[in-house]
Amino acid sequence: MMNEILDTMFARRATKRFDAHHTIPDETLTAILRAARTAPTAFNIQNWRFLVVRDPAVRAAIKAVAWHQPQIEECSALVVLCADMHAYAKDPGRYWKDAPEAMREKYIGMITQYYENNPTMQRDEAFRSAGMAAYALMMAASAHGYDTCPMDGFDFEQVAEIIRLPKDHALVMFVAIGKGTGDLPPHGGRIPDIDVIAFDRF
Ligand SMILES: Cc1cc2nc3c(=O)[nH]c(=O)nc-3n(C[C@H](O)[C@H](O)[C@H](O)COP(=O)(O)O)c2cc1C
Repeated sequence: MMNEILDTMFARRATKRFDAHHTIPDETLTAILRAARTAPTAFNIQNWRFLVVRDPAVRAAIKAVAWHQPQIEECSALVVLCADMHAYAKDPGRYWKDAPEAMREKYIGMITQYYENNPTMQRDEAFRSAGMAAYALMMAASAHGYDTCPMDGFDFEQVAEIIRLPKDHALVMFVAIGKGTGDLPPHGGRIPDIDVIAFDRF
């Protein structure tokens, strides 16, 4: 059975060249980002952070430490997916503000217990959340008629410096959003199910 979500998933390609002259309307970008924020997070901590790089000077600086990949400057919106590894400790009641008070208090306790003194979990969770948000962002962009390229081909330390990444944030990946131009390179292909899907135990 096919439907629009499946069609979108199967049609999506990592897009290498974008129309540099296309400007994405602010309201479209806002709508795409709002949709991306429907991505789930553990305990609803919403630890992803979306940094939109608009300044051409910042884009140029990033491109210089990203193997000069053209997407960085040609895309209409360069979104740097980050996550706050200490979100769990920053007023966690706000993640359950709409829930009844007893439930909110219970979650605050669970959140604290789960992440406190566990930097590995804090960092792993950052990557889980931002990874989910990245794909949600890509799907939302497709729904609005845009192409995307997920990217991690850059120097993480140098990009962190350029964007002034806070010390307690993780830098996860980029999603470049724009109108694709030119031919897509051939796809690498997909390895067989049996190589990636297992049941019960490895
Ligand atoms: C985490 C991640 C990082 C990637 N980094 C880059 C990148 O830096 N530059 C690039 O051109 N493509 C990048 N890609 C795109 C992959 O090469 C592409 O998704 C893969 O070849 C499968 O092709 P498809 O997305 O068109 O199905 C990245 C993809 C992912 C998921």
